Amino acid sequence: MTLKLGVIGTGAIGQEHIRRCSHVLQGAQVVAVSDINVDGARAALQRLNIEAEVFENGHDVIHSPNVDAVLVTSWDPTHEEFTLAAIAAGKPVFCEKPLAMSAEGCRRVVDAEIQAGKRLVQVGFMRPYDAGYRALKKVITDGDIGEPLMLHCAHRNPTVPESYTTPMAITNTLIHELDVLRWLTSDDYKTVQVIFPRVTSKTHGQLKDPQIVLFETHKGVRIDVEIFVNCAYGYDIQCEVVGEEGIARLPEPSSVQLRKDARLSNTILVDWKDRFIEAYDVELQAFINDIKAGQLTGPSAWDGFAASVAADACIKAQSSGAIEPVEMPPRPAFYN
Ligand SMILES: NC(=O)c1ccc[n+]([C@@H]2O[C@H](COP(=O)([O-])OP(=O)(O)OC[C@H]3O[C@@H](n4cnc5c(N)ncnc54)[C@H](O)[C@@H]3O)[C@@H](O)[C@H]2O)c1
Repeated sequence: MTLKLGVIGTGAIGQEHIRRCSHVLQGAQVVAVSDINVDGARAALQRLNIEAEVFENGHDVIHSPNVDAVLVTSWDPTHEEFTLAAIAAGKPVFCEKPLAMSAEGCRRVVDAEIQAGKRLVQVGFMRPYDAGYRALKKVITDGDIGEPLMLHCAHRNPTVPESYTTPMAITNTLIHELDVLRWLTSDDYKTVQVIFPRVTSKTHGQLKDPQIVLFETHKGVRIDVEIFVNCAYGYDIQCEVVGEEGIARLPEPSSVQLRKDARLSNTILVDWKDRFIEAYDVELQAFINDIKAGQLTGPSAWDGFAASVAADACIKAQSSGAIEPVEMPPRPAFYN
């Protein structure tokens, strides 16, 4: 059976997901799309050589009898509304991060899903599908380095636009670490503090860059994450886990090693789309396969909520300078 997908939002990542669902992955077909820029949606389909119905309103995609499942890839403030509508229609929905604009919004999605009695939501956190992170997780769960004690991480972008603000370092950038580090350590955050080192001359007035975010987890693990979004040299994701018996590091993306002009070098990626291109393929193939198998298993609405609770505490810590508690309610049995 071919799963018929409807996609709401045909911007950068919407087009990427339409391309991969249509031309790379198995078992699905994009049959409907919508975007507030209808002409842009039509042009995107033409460029991608895909025939699909174009709707002016995302709710028409959700309610189309031709659509089995929905991808929400529109702007952040629309995610909660479309995800709740898909749940109400009983259709599985893949929602790009963030699940909602606030922890309260994420909680509304969690409550609606529990009410529906079946997992219908997968959140677009792709790092748990990255081969490097999966290998790192296996080293930890196999006990190869003993119990994790400390994590040293970095999330660096070459540059960001003028519209990028200090809180966006949390909601747009750190949000991926907020999800993947919980998954990696099987732990939740207890407290957070944000420290601002000397500011880079390459930033602009609205953005304090870099930042260091320090967490303590419930098991007592200490995590430091450097966020540096005008680092100038490339898109660079680092993660090192220090355990009782050894240290494990996220592998570097593979590249040809070059010996030339008395130098030994490797290329560093610049575009985030290239760094996680395979992880995006794997996450969406899992969404398609899981729907067919009758049970979603990827990052859940609860994971979206947990990341959002931690993000809210980080933003508070940015302005207070204090160590702030991360207050997570107990996980409902529904998500065990
Ligand atoms: N998982 C990831 O690594 C990742 C990467 C990039 C973007 N994202 C998320 O994906 C979403 C889209 O990001 P993008 O970079 O593609 O942005 P974008 O601006 O390129 O595209 C968003 C599209 O949504 C459309 N849109 C806005 N409101 C709409 C509505 N009510 N109905 C239908 N269409 C609507 C816009 O017209 C635009 O074409 C964001 O929420 C972003 O956080 C996730």
